[in-house]
Amino acid sequence: MTVLDHLGFGCVALSTLASPRASRDLLEGVFELGLRHFDTAPIYGRGYSEILLSEFLRGKRDKVSVATKFGMSPSRRPRLPSGLAMRLNTLRRRLRPPARPSPVETSPPIRPPATRRRIGRAELEASFDSSCRALGTDHVDLYLLHEEVPSALEPAAVDFLQELRASNRVRQLGLAANGSRYLDLEPADLAPWNVLQYEFGPAWPAHAGLLRQFPAKTHIFHSCLRGVSPTAASGTEPGRVLAGCLAANPSGRVLFSSTNLAHVRANLRVIGG
Ligand SMILES: NC(=O)c1ccc[n+]([C@@H]2O[C@H](COP(=O)([O-])OP(=O)(O)OC[C@H]3O[C@@H](n4cnc5c(N)ncnc54)[C@H](OP(=O)(O)O)[C@@H]3O)[C@@H](O)[C@H]2O)c1
Repeated sequence: MTVLDHLGFGCVALSTLASPRASRDLLEGVFELGLRHFDTAPIYGRGYSEILLSEFLRGKRDKVSVATKFGMSPSRRPRLPSGLAMRLNTLRRRLRPPARPSPVETSPPIRPPATRRRIGRAELEASFDSSCRALGTDHVDLYLLHEEVPSALEPAAVDFLQELRASNRVRQLGLAANGSRYLDLEPADLAPWNVLQYEFGPAWPAHAGLLRQFPAKTHIFHSCLRGVSPTAASGTEPGRVLAGCLAANPSGRVLFSSTNLAHVRANLRVIGG
């Protein structure tokens, strides 16, 4: 095992690149640097993230681990070819630049109310089929409940998840909500789940105790670079923040994303990968 086995690449921003070729080149570069875990979701890039990831996965599916999610899906599956959608995206951003990011929240989290969402078996079956089709795969290494808590799932949906894992179509199950939503959970609530995925790092002090609260789970951190100032971000600070998160979670994983291979290289240089 090396430090690279504890890192993962986030695919949330793939569809913001200029073209499918740019996305493939970035993913190939990340792969050549040694990263082997890729995190996506049906909702990322309105469905295009899974499609762009599938173009990279061709021929190397057995060499990488793929996480995708369920519970939040785009209202419509992508209909345009990814190249055209990305060109339109670029044009849209030129006409309407993105809003300034909101200030980072460091105050104690407000406990969210119990969920009202109900996820049934039929929705889950459709979501799993759709993700496998988009990703061009017959199995998913880590399948995560996206921005929800386990009580949102109907019992038949939990049965389906267990069937997926028993038949090896899913290797591990996990939760991927804001970490504040796990604070009130009991270890027994988490019995079917292998992984807890949540925000960690300087901007998320309230999540620091989750490792101790749920020691039997694999923890995956993301959004660790939130709150790193733009000036610091041009130096070694992002790599140092990621290295700190890896040190806090030596048996888990730390995700980060980038649209710039030079940034990925810089991070790995600091981390030592
Ligand atoms: N519910 C969930 O499970 C959930 C929620 C959120 C995110 N995620 C996953 O976690 C992944 C990472 O999260 P994230 O994208 O929110 O946050 P992140 O990885 O903490 O931050 C990404 C940002 O950091 C910048 N960056 C990275 N390295 C840099 C460097 N060396 N120098 C300057 N800037 C650098 C990137 O800009 P550049 O593009 O310019 O490099 C990008 O804007 C996502 O892609 C997604 O897969 C999961």
